[in-house]
Amino acid sequence: MQKRRDFLKTSLLTSAGLVAATVSPALADDNKMDSIFAYSQNNEGRWKGKSGSHAPVITIDGNKVTVETKHGMSEAHYIVKHSLLDSKGNVLGETIFFPTDKKAISTFVVEGKYTELYALSFCNIHDLWVTKFSK
Ligand SMILES: [Fe+2]
Repeated sequence: MQKRRDFLKTSLLTSAGLVAATVSPALADDNKMDSIFAYSQNNEGRWKGKSGSHAPVITIDGNKVTVETKHGMSEAHYIVKHSLLDSKGNVLGETIFFPTDKKAISTFVVEGKYTELYALSFCNIHDLWVTKFSK
């Protein structure tokens, strides 16, 4: 159990570090955030063929933003976290998952309009994935 806690802690810290690294306004202004620091539907990198099960899928209903990662959840392989960021790197919301959760789905209430939002999904094996969208 201690090993699992250590792993989760390390994963979250790694995820937080990656998020911090990806939120440079200069990179966001270049629209390169999703192609440099995180994998995406258009940049699967070393995880070729994995975007369908790792890139966050966004559904917007008014001010409700739903983020879903169509990924299985098991003790050995699961989605650890969703984060929602604006183009300046402000964290608008986060959801932590556990291997016992049935699905990696999170909802966030986002007021106002945004031309750039970033949904991040972190898999314990396949790294950090991003989907950029507007609301
Ligand atoms: Fe995965």
